Amino acid sequence: MTVPLNNYKILPSILSADFGKFIAEVSTVDIPEIDYLHVDVMDGHFVPNLTFGPQVVTSLKKHTRFKLDVHLMIDKIAEFIPEFAKAGADIITIHQEATRHLHRHIYQIKEYGVLAGVSINPATPLENIELILPDVDLVLIMSVNTGFGGQKFIHFSLAKIKKLNKWRREKGLNFIIEVDGGIDQITAGEVRLAGADYFVAGSAIFGQKDRPKAVYAIIKAIEEAQKKYSGKLV
Ligand code: DX5
Ligand code: ZN
Repeated sequence: MTVPLNNYKILPSILSADFGKFIAEVSTVDIPEIDYLHVDVMDGHFVPNLTFGPQVVTSLKKHTRFKLDVHLMIDKIAEFIPEFAKAGADIITIHQEATRHLHRHIYQIKEYGVLAGVSINPATPLENIELILPDVDLVLIMSVNTGFGGQKFIHFSLAKIKKLNKWRREKGLNFIIEVDGGIDQITAGEVRLAGADYFVAGSAIFGQKDRPKAVYAIIKAIEEAQKKYSGKLV
């Protein structure tokens, strides 16, 4: 396969930030290379952890310049899409595993003028989202089991990203491919070559003392991988 030529982005996941000094923490990634924050919403049902509600999105929107990429790991999708859209989400991503009405909910997101994403957990086959691909703005491939930061990248995710990138090309679609879980300076290069555009990183950024340095290390890994394989078959 060839190296994707579109632009890539790094999206710091605030799940790994220190919640006691939230806005100050988020400000540490206020560098020109960062446009979006990734906001992990967990309900204690779909995943075994609890995090943020829409009020946190409202506050982030009010106190920072970042666009917000809201990753809903919740069962009650229909009830919360309006809440997060009104709170200021720029992207809302829902899980295929969490609903029997994926098409309805994707269009529910779009009604608010918000970009609509679909996500699948590591063990969910790509085929489960194949029919919805023409309708989504973004596909989020989970490369760890949803629920917690700091887990190890699950290697078979690479094959899913490659296959999705191939489908995107063959079907002439232009959704964004986002990858979430275990992204760091070791894994980012391979993930880029597989076809990813958006890289979510939590512990690899907020787990480090110098956050801009951590972002640049991931960018460097991506750039080096691209340079090495640019235009060649990998
Ligand atoms: C896990 C979340 C991730 C998490 C990634 O359910 O969706 O966004 O923050 O954390 P790292 O980058 O530490 O694997
Ligand atoms: Zn996430």
